[in-house]
Amino acid sequence: MNLPVFDLTGRTAIVTGGGRGIGKGICLALAQAGANIIVANRDTATAAETVREIETLGRKSIAIQTDVCQSAQVENLVNKTVEVFGTLDILVNNAGGTTKEMRVPPLQVTEEIWDAAIDLNLKSIFLCSQIAAKTMIQQKKGNIINISSWYAYMPSLVSMPYGAAKAGVNNLTQTMAHVLGPYNIRVNAIAPGAVPTGPGDPEMRERRRKSCPLGRLGVPEDIAWAVVYFASDASSYVTGQVLSVDGAIPKIV
Ligand SMILES: NC(=O)c1ccc[n+]([C@@H]2O[C@H](COP(=O)([O-])OP(=O)(O)OC[C@H]3O[C@@H](n4cnc5c(N)ncnc54)[C@H](O)[C@@H]3O)[C@@H](O)[C@H]2O)c1
Repeated sequence: MNLPVFDLTGRTAIVTGGGRGIGKGICLALAQAGANIIVANRDTATAAETVREIETLGRKSIAIQTDVCQSAQVENLVNKTVEVFGTLDILVNNAGGTTKEMRVPPLQVTEEIWDAAIDLNLKSIFLCSQIAAKTMIQQKKGNIINISSWYAYMPSLVSMPYGAAKAGVNNLTQTMAHVLGPYNIRVNAIAPGAVPTGPGDPEMRERRRKSCPLGRLGVPEDIAWAVVYFASDASSYVTGQVLSVDGAIPKIV
């Protein structure tokens, strides 16, 4: 089947947190659709492996070490991208999640934990989007895709600031879509459900798997193909949306 509307050949995409997990899946799916990829990760070893796998797909790729919570590093990421590839077409704000310290009961969240979780999951998306938008506005085209979470839609007992941050991502997505639309820049988000990407509690995973109407947990590719849709011209009249990719897993505590 030949579907040129999904073709991303020649487009340049930054994927934050592309070293592993969902971010790596997004890098490989965008590369399969034809895009060249900048892997923006804090950890360089995993990013280098993602770059290698993208290159075997026949696309260009570089890793740029970036902490997405630091504006100077994000500026460097965007500047280097334009220097090397001449354009920035797609930004996928994927880096995020919770550290062990962030996973404490709501009443035990300290100011320090709160700030760290909001920085990683909300401030980072503000910084990357606003800095990338400056380049995209000049180009009069661009595409921003934010990775939210099903925790935006339910009490986030595992990490209160994480859920609050992801709910904030959904709102930021609408605002950015509104202000960037006139520059031909679309902004959408994807809210994944449970997608095992690291060590986790097997019992909890099994409970979630059973509660999901589709009878399985998500895999990075489930999220990645939705990113390809938002990144491509197939979604050219879609902006300001949050798409749940979660197998309709119930949003209950
Ligand atoms: N896995 C899930 O079940 C799930 C569910 C809903 C939403 N999400 C969201 O999907 C995204 C990816 O999740 P994942 O499970 O693949 O995560 P992960 O922990 O497996 O990978 C995260 C990647 O981001 C990088 N990273 C972390 N902090 C960074 C920083 N400050 N700057 C740059 N890079 C950084 C890490 O090095 C790693 O490569 C996150 O935004 C997460 O909140 C995940």
